[in-house]
Amino acid sequence: MPTVRVTRRAHFCSAHRLFHDEWSDEKNREVFGDCSNPHWHGHNYVLDVTVEGPVDPETGFVMDLKAVKGAIDERVVRDVDHRNLNLEVAWMRGIRPSTENFAVAVWDRIAPVLPEGVRLQRVFLRETPNNSVEYLGPEGGDR
Ligand code: NI
Repeated sequence: MPTVRVTRRAHFCSAHRLFHDEWSDEKNREVFGDCSNPHWHGHNYVLDVTVEGPVDPETGFVMDLKAVKGAIDERVVRDVDHRNLNLEVAWMRGIRPSTENFAVAVWDRIAPVLPEGVRLQRVFLRETPNNSVEYLGPEGGDR
């Protein structure tokens, strides 16, 4: 059976701040730039979730895209859209909300709810038109 990758995109807006409590505003600005603004700021995130698996001969699908969308909405977007990642998202608590850490947290939210035989292959998270990160899972995609 052919193995195929399927990608679903989601858009959401979230606020955050990157900072260390014990650092001065000046040092935070030096390390984190505009993302350290003490009064928060937002990003229009774009999230691509790619799943991989065999094509089901009955449906012709790896996984119903409605179900991929449902997993992204229920496990991620509902919690983060128009929210503050530092303050309001239980599964980001204690995690510095860099795009890297956010992508790993998104992986951990979605991977466990995929149907048997379908694996999460890639989480691609764009924070700005120029900055994005890619996470291929704890095994680094070497499978
Ligand atoms: Ni930022």
